[in-house]
Amino acid sequence: MKFFVDTADVAEIRALAALGMVDGVTTNPSLIAKSGRKIADVIAEICAAVPGPVSAEVTATEFDGMMKEGRYLKAIAPNVAVKVPLTVDGLRACKALVGEGAMVNVTLCFSAAQAILAAKAGATFVSPFVGRLDDVGQDGMVLIAEIVEIYGNYPAIGTEILVASIRHPIHLVEAAKLGAHVATLPPSVLRALFNHPLTDKGLAAFLADWAKTGQSIL
Ligand code: E4P
Repeated sequence: MKFFVDTADVAEIRALAALGMVDGVTTNPSLIAKSGRKIADVIAEICAAVPGPVSAEVTATEFDGMMKEGRYLKAIAPNVAVKVPLTVDGLRACKALVGEGAMVNVTLCFSAAQAILAAKAGATFVSPFVGRLDDVGQDGMVLIAEIVEIYGNYPAIGTEILVASIRHPIHLVEAAKLGAHVATLPPSVLRALFNHPLTDKGLAAFLADWAKTGQSIL
């Protein structure tokens, strides 16, 4: 399973990339706004820090505007994945941008029917938002299971399922059990994956016993 990190904080991305756990990055207009920086500058820096796909989202809502913005974003770096919303115009732009050689991430997917459309539009990634579904009382992981099953029926589908809006490690584990291709993780969730109190307790006990031997390995 590939791990993307869901942030526009370049320092955080560099720190996480140094751990060797980051295969790509996703951003969205809210995350770019939070960074307080120009989108082109942030995306260029992220693309230099991480070799894998870096999603940069268009903000136009009609086809022509999406195409112009998509081409502009794609030109920032070879590893940009243009992100478009799962709308009629977004899927049309997806197909056209993929035809021009772009990677495209279709975002804001909340139903299996929408995921089928994203695959038909040739999306590189489809992003179902599990946390936001959970927030409204619908089990987000059921949607991931549906998409995995449906895409599995059609081996020709090349669209990767990118599980988004992940809120905690259980989301990640459940998505991995279902065989989703990618999870995009907020930095705090990625860091939380490393932790277990028994690891800390066990390590402290080993080191205490080791200290009693007076030995050192080197
Ligand atoms: C994915 O690409 C989105 O940027 C992100 O996962 C949205 O997560 P949120 O629902 O926590 O804002």
